[in-house]
Amino acid sequence: MSWIVWLVVAVVLLPGIAWSAGDAAKGKEKYQELCAACHGASGKGDGPAAPALPTKPRDHTDAAYMDKLTDEQVFNIVKSGGAAAGKSPLMPAWGGPPPKLSDQQIQDLVAYIRTLAGAK
Ligand code: HEC
Repeated sequence: MSWIVWLVVAVVLLPGIAWSAGDAAKGKEKYQELCAACHGASGKGDGPAAPALPTKPRDHTDAAYMDKLTDEQVFNIVKSGGAAAGKSPLMPAWGGPPPKLSDQQIQDLVAYIRTLAGAK
């Protein structure tokens, strides 16, 4: 009988735990590759493309702002883009067409972004 309980634990809970564990080191690599052009190599919103953008890329080191966003909100904006969150469409949707990121890769990015404003 008890194995059923463990099966339920494994199926229901473990993916949830895995989902919440982003790998910040992997996120950093992707960030430098895909995000730094706009957000800057250190996430300050000062990438080489930033001066040309009418809406400035978010400064991820701005803890006062970033702390107000839940991990889920950051995840969703990276996956679905700025427009879907009522923000600037200049922030691309990375869950869409190539270079498409997996949920795990986006989770890694969220973990990395969290380190920029000082991990709690
Ligand atoms: C083409 C330029 C560009 C690229 C590339 C880009 N962003 Fe952005 N991003 C923006 C802009 C512009 C905003 C600001 C949107 C606003 O404030 O309306 C933004 C905002 C954000 C925000 C904050 C949303 C908020 O609530 O204010 C997050 C998080 C973010 N970007 C993550 C990323 C990640 C992660 C990547 C790489 C996978 C990335 N961005 C790549 C332009 C870009």
